[in-house]
Amino acid sequence: MEPVGELSFAPVIPSLRLDVFRGDEWITAFANDVNYGLGSEPRELPPKYFYDARGSRLFDRITELPEYYPTRTERAILERCAGQIVGIAGAETLVELGSGSSHKTELLLEPLIERAANPLYVPIDFSESAVREASVRLIEKYTGLRVHGVIGDFEKHLGGLPPAPARLFAFLGGTIGNMKSDHMAFFLKRLGRLLGPADSLLVGVDLVKESGELEAAYNDAQGVTAEFNKNVLATINDNLSGDFDLDGFDHIAFFDPENSWIEMRLRANAAQSVRIGALDMRLEFEAGDEIRTEISRKFSREEIERELRIAGLEPYGWYTDEDSRFALTLAAPAAGQIALS
Ligand code: SAH
Ligand code: TRP
Repeated sequence: MEPVGELSFAPVIPSLRLDVFRGDEWITAFANDVNYGLGSEPRELPPKYFYDARGSRLFDRITELPEYYPTRTERAILERCAGQIVGIAGAETLVELGSGSSHKTELLLEPLIERAANPLYVPIDFSESAVREASVRLIEKYTGLRVHGVIGDFEKHLGGLPPAPARLFAFLGGTIGNMKSDHMAFFLKRLGRLLGPADSLLVGVDLVKESGELEAAYNDAQGVTAEFNKNVLATINDNLSGDFDLDGFDHIAFFDPENSWIEMRLRANAAQSVRIGALDMRLEFEAGDEIRTEISRKFSREEIERELRIAGLEPYGWYTDEDSRFALTLAAPAAGQIALS
């Protein structure tokens, strides 16, 4: 697919290029997803719509919360192991899926810039504000680094990536755990086919642990996660002429041990009627009615490694913290797999 817009900053900033895949057709996809999800039983909303500019800012606040251990744990692992990871992957290019603010990324970029003749960073995120701000910050900070940002959907727009040598694909923050398992399997398989023999994949996963600690991470005392969860209703109000009353819903997050995931929901705290103008849709809620908004899967080492192998990727590195809270797993296309694709 061709980008719908291209913003080349050359010659003002010759090392920066941004491709914008996310044009107006995004609204159509959003409308379809909302229509389908809220029309289904149980009612459900796809989580990728959390991250507009406001959602991205709220997520950045989540990463700083005392209860939310994943970000700081992953950062600590990278502080210790990023040099080794980049070295054994032999990386010269960093492609990052769901790059967000790209803060932890700096830990991978520094060893990469040191070893690569012509280092390139390719952040992909559909938060336009996040990709723009991170791209400008990073080229200002690191001389010699080229950035080719992609504002788009990593489930749709990976085919159009620029060719580049020795790519390390990083998928951090446990974002892979936000996909349902059939969806994740399909995604990993496509990603596996996209990787060449010199490429690797680094995936950050949150690990299974005691449920109290897990639940606290998604029920913070300051209520930032609640605000983030409700933001998906605000994006419907803003983009599809909805009239959701955000105060009419409570944030719910609990660990489901059977599925090994945190599930997030919004629960109506009183009977209410909601209209979504752009969909010509009216929804009736009784007090206690729920909308499912997100899952966040917690893995064991065996589970993530099995998923990778099924997708034709061979794990060859495992990096974790002292308490096995979070892990980074490094994988490459399995021998034989490359010849098939
Ligand atoms: N990698 C960062 C941010 C994680 S939050 C970190 O570890 O802290 C998840 C990010 O993925 C958000 O910035 C969101 O906008 C992005 N994202 C989620 N699904 C996406 C998709 N399908 N395509 C592109 N970006 C996506
Ligand atoms: N990938 C993050 C996670 O699963 C996303 C996340 C953190 C999140 N807190 C959230 C998503 C609250 C929705 C609501 O941990």
